[in-house]
Order: sequence, then C-alpha cells, then structure tokens
Amino acid sequence: MSLPKRYLITSALPYANGLKHIGHLAGAYIPADIYVRYLRAQKRDVVYVCGSDEHGTAIPIQAMKEGTTAQAIIDKYHPIIEQNFKDLGISFDIYHRTSDPIHHETAQEFFTYLNDRGELEMKETEQYYDEEAKTFLADRFIKGTCPNCNHDSAYGDQCEKCGKSLSPDELINPVSTLSGKAPIKKATKHWYLPLNKHEDFLREWILKEHKDDWRSTVVGQCKSWIDGGLQPRAVTRDLDWGIKVPTKDGEGKVLYVWFDAPIGYISATKQWALNNNKDWKPYWYNADTKLVHFIGKDNIVFHCIIFPVMLQLHGNILPTNVPANEFMNLEGDKMSTSRRWSIEMDDYINDWIKKDNGGESLADVLRYYLTQIAPETKDSEFTWKGFQDANNSELVSIFGNFVNRTFVLMHKLCGGKVPLFHNDLIDDADKELIEAIQKSKIKIENLLEEYKFRDALFEVIDLARKGNQYLQKKEPWKKKTDNAEQGTENQKLIDNCIHLSLQLTANLAILINPFLPFTAKKMLHMMKVVEKILEWENAGSLKLLKQGYSIRAPELLFRKIEDEEITFQLEKLKQRSQMQKATSTTPNTENIKPSALSLKPEIVFDDFAKIDLRVGTIVAAEKVEKADKLLKLSVDLGFETRTIVSGIALQFKPEDIIGKQVTVVVNLAPRKMRGIESNGMILMAEDTSGKLHFINPDTKVDEGSAVS
Ligand code: MF3
Ligand code: ZN
Repeated sequence: MSLPKRYLITSALPYANGLKHIGHLAGAYIPADIYVRYLRAQKRDVVYVCGSDEHGTAIPIQAMKEGTTAQAIIDKYHPIIEQNFKDLGISFDIYHRTSDPIHHETAQEFFTYLNDRGELEMKETEQYYDEEAKTFLADRFIKGTCPNCNHDSAYGDQCEKCGKSLSPDELINPVSTLSGKAPIKKATKHWYLPLNKHEDFLREWILKEHKDDWRSTVVGQCKSWIDGGLQPRAVTRDLDWGIKVPTKDGEGKVLYVWFDAPIGYISATKQWALNNNKDWKPYWYNADTKLVHFIGKDNIVFHCIIFPVMLQLHGNILPTNVPANEFMNLEGDKMSTSRRWSIEMDDYINDWIKKDNGGESLADVLRYYLTQIAPETKDSEFTWKGFQDANNSELVSIFGNFVNRTFVLMHKLCGGKVPLFHNDLIDDADKELIEAIQKSKIKIENLLEEYKFRDALFEVIDLARKGNQYLQKKEPWKKKTDNAEQGTENQKLIDNCIHLSLQLTANLAILINPFLPFTAKKMLHMMKVVEKILEWENAGSLKLLKQGYSIRAPELLFRKIEDEEITFQLEKLKQRSQMQKATSTTPNTENIKPSALSLKPEIVFDDFAKIDLRVGTIVAAEKVEKADKLLKLSVDLGFETRTIVSGIALQFKPEDIIGKQVTVVVNLAPRKMRGIESNGMILMAEDTSGKLHFINPDTKVDEGSAVS
C-alpha cells in the first residue's frame, strides 16, 4: 500500500464551558499528540487541528450558572483550555474556535450546499416548549428520568449516567432546565438529515470495508446504531446561541451544535492554511489524504455515522480511522465534572508542573501514566497510587536510571567522552542489545501505525529495561582497576559497553519523543545534540553519537514522588466532591442558578409591602438532631427573641455565626421543622457556586430595624 501524501489529524473540539479533565486528555488528546509527533518525526506532511466547541446548550447553561453571558463563558474558557493543552505538550498546529467568522461561513456554506441539493428534509413536529422562558427545549435545556437506567436527571440529548443518547421525547417526567417547570408541546419546523437513506453506504463503508482495521469497540457501536434503525436527524434548533440557519425560513433558528462542530475541523484547517500560506483543500478533498479523528467513545456516532454522511454528500474525503477510546474512571468511580470527581488539567498543572522544580518533566509523567492506562480496548482506571508507581518504578527506576547510570559511568570510566567501539571485542551481550535496539524501532513503528499507544510505550520502556540488564551483566565498573589504562583490553571492554549504552540512550530519546517530548528534549541537551537527531529514520542506528564527542554531566530526568504528595491529592479529591455535595441543594440534579430566564412574575407594591423584614442578631445556634442541613437559631429582634430553623448547617458552624446580623422575614406563618416551631425566615443570597451568604447591613444596626 502506498503511503498517504498528507495527514490531517483531529482531536475532538472540547466544549468551552468549563475546565477539562484528565479523562478528556487521555481519550482524545494524548494519543493524537503521540501519533502526530511520530508522523512529524517521520517527516510526513501532517496537520493537527483542534479548537473550542462554542455552541450548543452547554454554553448558555454554564452562563446561567455563572450569572453571565454565553459570550463571556467562551471568552473565559477558550484561552485557559488552550494554555492547559500547551502546558501538557499537546502540539496542535492550530487551536481554533467555532465562534470565529470563518467557521460560521464554512458551516453555513455546508448547510446551504446540502439543502440546495435536496439532501435535507424539512418537517414540522411538536416539541417541548417552556412557556415561562419562552424557549423550545432541546438537548440540555430539558431534563428528566432516563428510560434506560432511571437516572433522574438525564439530559434531552444524553444520559450522563449510562451514556445513552436520548431525544427529549424519551425522557420520563421532563422538566425545563431553565425554569424547572413542566413543558408544554408546541409545533415547530426543522431541517433533518435523513440518515436512513444512507444505511447502505454506512454498512458497506464501516461494517465491510473497515471491519478489521477499525477498533472492534468502534465497529461494534456503529453496528448497533445501524442495526437499531437509522432515523432522520434534526440539524437545526430553536435557539438564539449558535450559527444562524442561512435561509429565509430559518429565522430564529440555529444549526445544531453537532452539525456545526465537526465542520470546525475544516474551518480550523482553513485558518491554519491562511496563517501558513498553504492550500487547505487537498486536506479535505484529495483521496491521498489520511484523515484520522481522535475522540472518546461518547462521540462515536457523530464521527462515524453523521459527519461521514455529511462529508460524503459534500464531496469530501472520509476518515481513514476513528480510534475512539473507552472511558477512564478515577479511584473507583466514574469521572464527572458536575460531581467534581475529576482531576482537571488546570489543577494538575498547578499542583505538579508549576509548583515542582522538575517542572515540565511532570507533564511527561502524566502523559506516561495516561498512556500506560489508556482505555484503548476497555474502560480503565486512574489511581494516584498507580500514578506514583508508574513514576517511581518505571520512569525513575528503569528509564531514568538507565540514562543516568550511562552518563555517570561515561564520566567516571571514559573521561566524559563517547568512547570508541572495538569491533574485534564484540560479544553476545553486545549483539543481543544491538538487535534489541533495531527490533524495537520496527515494533514501535508498527504499533503506532495501528494506534496501539499503550503497547508502543511498553516497548520503549522495555528497551530501557534491557539497557539496565545489559549494564548489570557487563558490570563495567568492576573492570576499572587502578592500572587500567587506555588501550588495555579491560578498558576496551569498558569502552564497548559505554559506547553501546550511549547509542541506546540516543535511540531512547528518539523513541520516547512522541510520548514524552519534554524528556526527549532534556536528553538532547544532555547529549549536546541537535533536534534533528530525533528524526524517526535515525532510530535503530548505532552511530548517533560520534566517538570522541564530549557530552554533558547527567541531570535527573525524573524525580521520585513521595507518599505525602499522593495522600494530599487523594484528600483533595475527596474534599472537592464532598464540598460539591454539600453545596448542591438538590443532590441529584445539576444546580441551575437564577437567570433572567427564570425571573418571577411582576408584583405590585402592595404585595411587597405585606412582607415585614427586620434586622436581627443571632444570639444562639445549635445543630438539629438527625437533620444535617438544619440549624436551630435564636435571633434577637429587639422586641423579642425568636426561634428560627434554617437550612444552612452544611455551610455554617453554629459557633461561627453567633453575633452575626441577619435579615429576617418576621411575619411568615410559623412552621414546624423536625418538631421545632420556626418563627420566621432568614434571608440568604446564594452565589453561582452555590455558596450561601447572609444579607446584612453594612454596619451594625439596632435589632428590630425595618428593612424596606
Ligand atoms: N464538544 C464535543 C464534546 O465535548 C466534541 C465535539 S467534536 C466535534 O463531546 F467533532 F464536533 F468537533
Ligand atoms: Zn441513563
């Protein structure tokens, strides 16, 4: 088979609605980056594109939570995520964004092209509508019980618990995410992509052509989608956040986020070409381009079924492979941003890379562990203990140790210069090592070409392990006697051993480079060689370092990770998720904060004047037995002291709030809570993170002062 002329590699465009975690990183970014770095080392023509996915309901929902606008959300998260990837060595050629005008044009052109050719169908259907928010409720704007697993807050597009794709009509007891109200049904028109018309193409292309070269997990998922009966898929939405539907009758409608986002790969390529004075078209139209999408398994249907149908209708090339990963769990539980059971890239960077004097090498440690446990064929699990072990017993004890020993021995036994290799003294151990070096290159290459990154990385470490065994067998330090001089047989044997160990070190730099680029760079510095040596064709060579060349003293490539550091991370993880539980008032639903959309109806002044608000001072507070949220307070109101039961116990300790002034509704009818009569209500403000704050005067005032 002839080599592709060019490669276009994509990683899923992350939603710019919040920080991304290491599960994302392991699924779609690290493997792609390894592949791309390998291709670059092979001097292939490769473009690696990614960027922010800035549309869809996920963005306005986050805006509501943070009490701001959708635009402010994407402008906040886009640069943070971009920088996080950079800090972890993900080497995109461009990190674009779907809010860019070039993308809006590209996506609209795509829609128009399909629509003009009659490839889309328009239909009127009844859809859920929120009368209060005056909005149709698609995707994440609607929640309900999952028909598959009974999870009580599944979204209208997917259940985050069991992963099933859903449509709003499948939800049991649907409610609006915006107002919390039950929706009504209302007629609306939309454009659909009739996937059912393309079943034959999909069967042929995926289930026949690619049944052996795509991952079985990917083919399996596609098969069950196809066998389940493909349905027309709506590609537009009644929303105001997104890309406007470019037709006369598309007023008030936008493209469905999953229609526009994958087209983002094309827009990103266009922008890259503009920046670099290149032509983007061959990357998307020429059959000799190899297009590979790196994604997590929840994105399979979009990249293997929907987008390929769109690409084919639009006259573009199809992906050659979609090596989707399964999921990575964390310490025995599913990773989840909303439950805060995750390790965000940003947190890892702050805790390990920025704080540590090892700096960038800690980026490589994460890359290493995430590759070693990559969920290529089944779900896998990140544990902090596993992370520590991978570092201490592999990176430090095998790879780092071999490189360090080689450098130390060279300085001690060979005067800091690359010694000669004396061919006449070559022995079996030398030959074995040489063969191992040459074989590794081929093995690793083949594994990388097949997207088997875990196995490929194992081979690199295994080669370093062989280096250690070689040194152990040869024991060059024992051959050095006081009178061993240049030219004696002993010294020649030492020279041979160190020479080969050094050539192996240079080979290791080339082979580890796609996986651990910061480490490879450090090794280049130590060996005093230029980056060009990292070209893949140099792997397997035993002439990488010239005889007589003097090289630097060793620097440690990796440092040991201590138990305390691991305990700290475990504690932090637990605390974060407990905090999240404590601050979420409705434990099982994501907590949507007030927004303009959920404003209460207007009232007249007289309605307001009925409420008697007074300032009081908390004079006593105690926990209510068997009610972890409640505190029993005594509030001095000047004219009397009242008992008030308040649901603030998760956030305030009794001893911390005595003496605080508060605003109290004093004419609320008494209510019994846990057998205690509560006479009034304390006003609290809840911020976007769910934290509660007292509403009190800016300086102390007399108890009983009226608030109006
Ligand atoms: N934003 C989506 C997600 O996080 C991925 C989009 S991939 C693209 O699941 F193909 F649409 F770009
Ligand atoms: Zn479910």
